[in-house]
Amino acid sequence: DGEVYKYYSDGEWKKSSSGKSVAIINPTTRKTQYKVQACTQEEVNKVMESAKIAQKSWAKTPLWKRAELLHKAAAILKKHKAPIAECLVKEIAKPAKDAVTEVVRSGDLVSYTAEEGVRILGEGKFLVSDSFAGNERTKYCLISKIPLGVVLAIPPFNYPVNLAVSKIGPALVAGNSLVLKPPTQGAVAALHMAHCFHLAGFPKGLISCVTGKGSEIGDFLTMHSGVNCISFTGGDTGIAISKKAGMIPLQMELGGKDACIVLEDADLDLVAANIVKGGFSYSGQRCTAVKVVLVMESVADAVIKKVKAKVAKLTVGPPEDDCDITPVVSESSANFIEGLVMDAKQKGATFCQEYKREGNLIWPLLLDNVRPDMRIAWEEPFGPVLPVIRINSPEEGIHHCNASNFGLQGCVFTKDINKAVLISDAMETGTVQINSAPARGPDHFPFQGLKDSGIGSQGITNSINMMTKIKSTVINLP
Ligand code: G3P
Repeated sequence: DGEVYKYYSDGEWKKSSSGKSVAIINPTTRKTQYKVQACTQEEVNKVMESAKIAQKSWAKTPLWKRAELLHKAAAILKKHKAPIAECLVKEIAKPAKDAVTEVVRSGDLVSYTAEEGVRILGEGKFLVSDSFAGNERTKYCLISKIPLGVVLAIPPFNYPVNLAVSKIGPALVAGNSLVLKPPTQGAVAALHMAHCFHLAGFPKGLISCVTGKGSEIGDFLTMHSGVNCISFTGGDTGIAISKKAGMIPLQMELGGKDACIVLEDADLDLVAANIVKGGFSYSGQRCTAVKVVLVMESVADAVIKKVKAKVAKLTVGPPEDDCDITPVVSESSANFIEGLVMDAKQKGATFCQEYKREGNLIWPLLLDNVRPDMRIAWEEPFGPVLPVIRINSPEEGIHHCNASNFGLQGCVFTKDINKAVLISDAMETGTVQINSAPARGPDHFPFQGLKDSGIGSQGITNSINMMTKIKSTVINLP
């Protein structure tokens, strides 16, 4: 008790000169679980300075050596899976098994990034001039990929480790340095993850981790002149960042309102299993969660019945017991979810279960007969509450999906592959899953959102490319 976790700067663990700390509230007990340093702007300046210096020599470190260190970090991360997972359980109430999975998945992501890095960065391009009208073969153009400089990574609370390494790995293999600003809920897990990179022996200053209040260092970080790229995953803050950031590449993954369109010929058992998994895993706190079911009226009763039977079997309780449904991340989040539920109730939605809440713990709830005038038809609860809208044609479903401000993923269930592909083409989302719930992984697949869901594309390969710039050298022959 009373211990304040140090932040990581210039290869060392430090206390902030502010003398202040930020409390991390355990979502289950609603008591302070950990404390982290409240870093000052001055400390951010120091981190930026050392990141800039470290990057210069890192860019000259052979690519295979950069990859080797990443492989080392991946192995250390996997070895430390138990204590890191414990932080995830205490800080973000992630069910115990899922917490371990997150860390293991992160180790695998870092290893794959190292392998992919040596392949795609080890290869350049060569052009000759006489393919363009009017030119002789007098110019040879050598094209390679060079690092951007300092990458700022801001992951969200729901995957503080995995969505940190999905930014750190690509940045480092490509020769960038990296400054991590973890979410407050998840900060200790992130500090522990940073410790694994420290143990792997990366040069000092190359990777750092600053903690603190958004109001004090948030804008200061994102608008800092030393930052050459921002990779952000989270909510609306991303839109604000994109408006304030300078002329630097941005990679953004924000919210989603992923639709699940169910046609009449779908395998309804498969549909029900995916609605429950997609809608309720980690209590719906995933940007790729199924956030609205758009089901054909003729099969709606059957789908609801099957989903209800599965929801009844979900276990509800503390993450330590590995329950399916655990407390949502904060009291304000629980209040927001409750607001959406009450709005739907007042406007006449059918409650398939009774609404129940204890502290931050909200029991899983399916809302049938949701209509477009209800907030939950459009807003993402980020909780275990799933609206169902009955539709009379696939077009109606596509129309609802495309009327959203979001466009992350979506899914369609049908046995008719031609219909599935046509619907996928019509859905304005970054990815459409046919006959499965939306998901980001496997982590080398491209991952991107349209509209308010994001900027650019992620996935290991795309992130490495995004964190580099093309450099040409033209040899002019006499
Ligand atoms: O919510 C973050 C987003 O990246 C989801 O990832 O793996 O749960 O589909 P995943």
